[in-house]
This record gives sequence, C-alpha cells and structure tokens, in this order.
Amino acid sequence: MSTLQGSTGRMRGGQRGRESKRMRKPAKKTKKAVVFFEVEILDAKTKDKLCFLDKVEPNATIGEIKSMFHKSHPQWYPARQSIRLDPKGKSLKDEDVLQHLPVGTTATFYFRDLGAQISWVTVFLTEYTGPLVLYLMFYFRVPFIYAPKYDFTTSKHWVVHLACMCHSFHFFKRLLETLFVHRFSHGTMPLRNIFKNCTYYWGFAAWMAYYINHPLYTPPIYGEQQIRLALVIFLFCQIGNFSIHIALRNLRPPGSKTRKIPYPTKNPFTWIFLLVSCPNYTYELGSWLGFTLMTQCLPVAFFTLVGFIQMTVWAKGKHRSYLKEFRDYPPVRSPILPFIL
Ligand SMILES: NC(=O)c1ccc[n+]([C@@H]2O[C@H](COP(=O)([O-])OP(=O)(O)OC[C@H]3O[C@@H](n4cnc5c(N)ncnc54)[C@H](OP(=O)(O)O)[C@@H]3O)[C@@H](O)[C@H]2O)c1
Repeated sequence: MSTLQGSTGRMRGGQRGRESKRMRKPAKKTKKAVVFFEVEILDAKTKDKLCFLDKVEPNATIGEIKSMFHKSHPQWYPARQSIRLDPKGKSLKDEDVLQHLPVGTTATFYFRDLGAQISWVTVFLTEYTGPLVLYLMFYFRVPFIYAPKYDFTTSKHWVVHLACMCHSFHFFKRLLETLFVHRFSHGTMPLRNIFKNCTYYWGFAAWMAYYINHPLYTPPIYGEQQIRLALVIFLFCQIGNFSIHIALRNLRPPGSKTRKIPYPTKNPFTWIFLLVSCPNYTYELGSWLGFTLMTQCLPVAFFTLVGFIQMTVWAKGKHRSYLKEFRDYPPVRSPILPFIL
C-alpha cells in the first residue's frame, strides 16, 4: 500500500505560512475553510488497500485521482484503471467530481485493472483495413484460394465488379470517417477486444468474398433490375449513414466529450432523427440489405442479420441512456427502426 498526498492538496500546502499569519490577526471576513478529502483505493477483487491519498481537494476529478494513483502504481496508467464506488458497480467517469459523489470526507473507491489498452483509432483502422484487403485478395483470386486455373482471373459477371466497388467503398468510407469525422469520447479500449472484433469483421469479409468472387458464382435471379435497385438502396443508405455521422460530429465541439440530443438538420437524410435514436445504424442496416439484394449471397445475408442484432442491442442501450440523461428526450423515437424496434 502506498500513501500519497493529493497533488492538489500539496499545492495548497505552500499557503499554510500565509494562513498562520492571518490567524494571528483575524480577518474581518473569514473565508469558508476547504474540507480536504482522504481517498483510499482498494482492489475490487481482493479488497486489499492499494493506495491512500491524503488531502485531496474536494473538486478533484476521478481523472485526477487516477493520475495520483498512477504515480504510486506506474504499471496502471489512467486509461487502464476502472475506479468504482462499488466493487461490482459501474466505472466512474473521469469528469466525476469527488465532492459530488456519494462519499464522505474519507472516500473509498474500488479499482479494477482493465488490462492493456489500445487507442480506438488503431482499433478501427485494424478492424476496417482487414476486410478491405481480404476482400480484394478474393476479388483478384490470388493463388491458394480457388483452383490454380483461376489464379488472377476475373469474373465474367459485372455484378461481381460492382460488389467489389461497393464493399471497398464502404470500408474505405469507414476508415476515412474514423480518421476525420468521428469525435470519440473514449480514447482507448481493452487490447483483447481487438481480437474479437477482428475475428468478426475479417472472418465475415473473407466468407462473403469467397462466395461472391467464386468462379461458380451465379448472379441475382432478377438480373439487372434487381442489381440496379440494390445499388440505389446501397448508395442512398451510405449517404444517409455519412450524413448522420456528420450530424453527430457537429454535436460535439472539438476536444470535448459533450453528449447532446441529436435533431434533424437542414440535410434531409437527417430528418429520420424525428423517429429514430440511432439512424446511423438504420442506414448501416439498409446498406447491407442493399448489398444482400445485389449479390444474393447467403453469407452476406447472414452478416447483415448478425450486424442488425448487434446494432439493435447497442441502439437500445443508447436509446435508454438518452431517456435517462435528457428529460425532454422526444418520446416518439424508437432505437433503430421507426415505430417497430
Ligand atoms: N455492420 C456492423 O456490424 C456495424 C456495427 C457497428 C457499427 N458500424 C458502423 O460504424 C459506425 C460507428 O459506430 P459506433 O457504434 O461508434 O456509432 P455511434 O456510437 O453512434 O457513434 C458515432 C460517433 O458519434 C458520437 N456520438 C454518438 N452519439 C452522440 C451524441 N448524442 N452526442 C455527441 N456525440 C455522439 C460517438 O461518440 P462516443 O465516442 O461518445 O460514442 C462517436 O464518435 C456506425 O454508424 C456504423 O456505420 C457497423
């Protein structure tokens, strides 16, 4: 166990000389004394005391407490710390202020190690570059995928080339959005998640690409009409998805973590906010439905279904958070599908 004096408390220590002079000659107007906190941090699993922080300023944030804890335990940098009020409870936010938490002047927090962290941008780039590259390997029919006589041959069906363009466009758009559009509130995520997420994205991309680019692939049953309709749906939803991402970006000033209620803007693609809390997921679903219609391929339909289930779970969670956080949240909105789900 280590004992540290709160850094903010330390800064105040230098003022003590001046304060004692004031005591000799009482001031007419006495300032309200600052009540410092004592903070103890226990291991959430073993309940062992890991750290004791003395004289922590009441307006210190959890983020600052994490930095103080980090000084005594350099292996646990702030991003991998989860600080909680209850060993099994939710992690406190970095912005939470000590004096506003339901704790006494001797506060007890519980620590959990979140494991090695990796930045979100790295995560997304890894997740999205994989499908992009893998799909193209199947499209160009590199050796050892299909029979040797098909190595580096191209499909005779134009829908296969169109599908490759759409798939590449989709993931390239996601990469660019990750780099230049999204303003994430969390800097990092656990390193182990990347293996799970990459298995999902890379695995599905390979599975879909294998069948779409297969030499024996057969084009959609209703031919050109079906492909054209599918392309329109796909492009419409891609523009819609991008428009929502721009609208979400504009809700958050650069460098902040502000969360606001999203409303329709001048862009008609955002008017769906009138009915849905997470329309970026609605448009994402639409894009994959379009891609399924275009390729008429079972693995694509399966990817669309799994993605829809996952996004519905997230959309419901986000919808609940909006209702909890904003009293004036529009009651007519559904999480992902207007009036249905
Ligand atoms: N096909 C699939 O299986 C699949 C699955 C998931 C996602 N995706 C795609 O990836 C995209 C991004 O996914 P995501 O889950 O990160 O989307 P998201 O949670 O809706 O977030 C997109 C960005 O907007 C921010 N944001 C969201 N609501 C906000 C609000 N009320 N105020 C201010 N900022 C807000 C988010 O910040 P925070 O960092 O604070 O959240 C994040 O930076 C999706 O739109 C979708 O196109 C595809």
